[in-house]
Amino acid sequence: MTTQDLAQAYAHHVGEMQRRSTQALERGGFDRLVVPSGTLHYQLFDDRDYPYAVNPQFKAWAPLTRNPGSWVVHTPGEKPTLIYLQPFDYWHVVPEAPAGYWVEHFDVVVIRKPEEALQHLPKDASHCAILGEAQSAIGDFVPNNPPAVVNHLEYHRAIKTPYEIAMMRAASVRGVRGHRAAERAFRAGSSEFGIHLAYCQAARQDANDLPYSNIIGLNEHGAVLHYTERDRLPPADIRSFLIDAGGSHDGYASDITRSYAFDPACEFQSMIDAVDAAEQRLCDRVRAGVDYKQIHLDAHLEMATILRDSGVVDMSPESMVETGVSAKFFPHGIGHYIGLQVHDVGGFLASDEGGRIDPPDGHPFLRLTRVLEPGAVVTIEPGIYFADLLLQELRDGEHAAAVDWDKVDTLRPYGGIRIEDDVVCTDGDPINLTREAFAALG
Ligand code: GLY
Ligand code: MN
Ligand code: MN
Repeated sequence: MTTQDLAQAYAHHVGEMQRRSTQALERGGFDRLVVPSGTLHYQLFDDRDYPYAVNPQFKAWAPLTRNPGSWVVHTPGEKPTLIYLQPFDYWHVVPEAPAGYWVEHFDVVVIRKPEEALQHLPKDASHCAILGEAQSAIGDFVPNNPPAVVNHLEYHRAIKTPYEIAMMRAASVRGVRGHRAAERAFRAGSSEFGIHLAYCQAARQDANDLPYSNIIGLNEHGAVLHYTERDRLPPADIRSFLIDAGGSHDGYASDITRSYAFDPACEFQSMIDAVDAAEQRLCDRVRAGVDYKQIHLDAHLEMATILRDSGVVDMSPESMVETGVSAKFFPHGIGHYIGLQVHDVGGFLASDEGGRIDPPDGHPFLRLTRVLEPGAVVTIEPGIYFADLLLQELRDGEHAAAVDWDKVDTLRPYGGIRIEDDVVCTDGDPINLTREAFAALG
C-alpha cells in the first residue's frame, strides 16, 4: 500500500470509528467517549514494571502502542482530541512527537505530566463513557465502561475496515518471515530456544512486541496446546515441530501455526498433509452468511475423517463427533476473531446491544459463535494431538476398543499437528492473509 493509499484508508477508518462511537454513545445515553491508553503496572513488592499493554479501545483509534498516560476524546460532530503524554524523562526513551499519516485527524495536545491531562479532558466527567482500566482514573475521570457502549463497539469491531486489513496483512508478512527462519532453524537441528531466537530475529520482534508468546514445540511438546517452555538444548532425536507464532503491526496481530516432520517421508508428514488440505477446505468456508459454529463442527468431521483414514480410530467420522471421541484429538475451537487482539473480542455477542450466543454443547472452547459478515477476520486452526491426558480419558472410556493403541504409540512421540491461517471474509471469495504472505515471500 502506498503512503497515499494508507492515508486514505486511515481517513476512512477514523471516520468509521467516529460513526460507531457516536452510535455507541447514543445507545448508552452519553455525550462523550473518553479513552485512556493505560498506565504501567508494577510487580508486587518491586519497582519493576510489567511490559506495558495498551488499552485496545485506545489503539483502535491510532497506531499508538507505546504511549501510557495518553487519552483520546471523541465528541460527536467534532474532530477527536488526542492528549499525548511526552514526559520529560532522562531514564527512558520518551515517545516521539506524534507524526505520520494519522495525526491530521486529531486535535493534538502534548502534555508533559500525566496529571496535565485533566486540563484537556472535558469539563464534566458525568456524561462521559470512559473506557479503560481502573488504574487509569484521574480526577473525576474514573473508567465506567458502560456495557451498552462497550457492547456496541465490540460487536462492530468484528468488521474490520480496509485500513485494519492492511495492518493485518503487514502483521502476517512479519510473522511469515519469522516462520521461514524458524523452519530453517528446525531443519538445522536447533533447540526450541534457538528456533525462538531465529524467529524473533527474522520477525524483528521480541516478547514486548509479539502479539502472544511464541509456541515452539519439538516432538511430544507439540501436543501441549500452549507450550511456551522452550528447552535450551535440542533433543537427541528430532522428529517433529509445531510453531504457533505471529507478528504485530501498528497494534494489529497475526496468528499463524505450522507443523513439520523432520523426515518428509514419514507417516506423521502424511497426516500433516491431510490436516493442511482439510484446513484449506475449511478456510474456503469463511464466507458471508456462514455460521462459524458450523465451520467448527465441520472441522471435527474433517479431523475425524483423517483419524479414520489413517487407522487411528475405527469409527465413522459422524459417530466420532457425536460421542466426543474427535474432541480427544482436537480439543480446542476451530478459531476466533483476530485484529487488535489476537483473540479479538465480541465473538459471542448476539447483537450490538449484548446477549450471548453459546458454543454448541460439548464444545466449550469455541471462542466465536456468530454468523460471518464481510470484513470479519478469523483464524482457522484445526489440529490433531496425541496428548497423554486426553488419551488416558479415551482409554478409560467406552470407545477405547475403537482405537488402535499401537498406532497411537507410534504417533505419540510426534506430539501434534496444527495448521492455522488468518482469513478475511468478503462479499465473494475469502482472502487468506497467511497463505498470501507465504506465497509472497517464496
Ligand atoms: N496462538 C493462540 C491461538 O492460536 O489461538
Ligand atoms: Mn489462533
Ligand atoms: Mn495460534
